Amino acid sequence: MDAPLRQLVTAVGGYDLCTSEFVRITRQRSPEKVFYRFGPELKSGAKTASGTPFRIQLLGSDPYYMAENAKTAVRLGSPSIDLNFGCPAKTVNASRGGSVLLDEPDLIFEITQAVRKALPDDIPVTVKMRLGYRDPSVCIDNALAFQAAGASELVVHARTKTDGYKPPAHWHYLREIREALDIPVVANGEVWSREDWLRCYESSGCDQVMIGRGAVARPDLAMQLSDPDFEPWVWADFVKSLLEYWRILSELYEADGCSDHYRVIRVKQWLNQSRRGFEEAPALFESIKRLHRSHEMDEALAQLAQSNLS
Ligand SMILES: Cc1cc2nc3c(=O)[nH]c(=O)nc-3n(C[C@H](O)[C@H](O)[C@H](O)COP(=O)(O)O)c2cc1C
Repeated sequence: MDAPLRQLVTAVGGYDLCTSEFVRITRQRSPEKVFYRFGPELKSGAKTASGTPFRIQLLGSDPYYMAENAKTAVRLGSPSIDLNFGCPAKTVNASRGGSVLLDEPDLIFEITQAVRKALPDDIPVTVKMRLGYRDPSVCIDNALAFQAAGASELVVHARTKTDGYKPPAHWHYLREIREALDIPVVANGEVWSREDWLRCYESSGCDQVMIGRGAVARPDLAMQLSDPDFEPWVWADFVKSLLEYWRILSELYEADGCSDHYRVIRVKQWLNQSRRGFEEAPALFESIKRLHRSHEMDEALAQLAQSNLS
């Protein structure tokens, strides 16, 4: 989720915290502009426009440079640092980043400890992991290694890298991890609705959840999870949020001098990812997928508003 979408979904509500997409760390100190690109919120007190706290996530395998870059992110305002040991992408794993490190328990300990030691005590270091690379039985040892290295919270995507994104998520492992650790464990994976969350809670015992694709597909998902009386959005609500997203993108990218083509692509991407959230989304996606220019998108969205909101 990028900054404009974070702005949009946190304005709907239900979120305690947002994490950036991972900032890839190699053997160098990344310039400040990289952190601001991944986290424009750093320029406004590390909060989204509606006041939800935001933090930076780092991904890499070199303990020294992970620590150095964590210091930069904190100096620029990130209130905590999250470390990514979950990414399944081939190119990332091939360069020794993300979930592939779950087969190297000594190294993940070293990385987490180096980052922990480099930061002031009041800045939490947290970890995002999958159950393992191929073998989920390593999850407890890895979780214990993160805790021993000083992580103060663990978000667990309840699948291995080999599982990819294939349902189901194996939430029951989280119960074992939670019982083995003293630090909070946050559940993640396949929560698309309040019913999913209740099943995840029952199976894992975790009382906190991190949502990824569901948050993109349904801007109101966090409200559905946090408030049993919340009335789930209907299509017209989503249409309004799409218009709002277009407005945010237009403001942001006009200020940055970014191409209008890029704005159009972002709207198409979001709509495509919303297929699972709203049954009307695929047809709308089909009708706009060949648009390239922002004036074409302006017209298409004006028509959409007219037929759905008037
Ligand atoms: C396109 C895409 C990009 C992702 N990027 C990140 C990332 O940068 N950092 C991260 O921790 N997880 C990332 N994830 C994983 C999600 O945070 C989450 O762990 C995963 O999708 C499972 O949760 P969900 O079923 O709620 O989506 C990404 C997932 C997708 C599909």
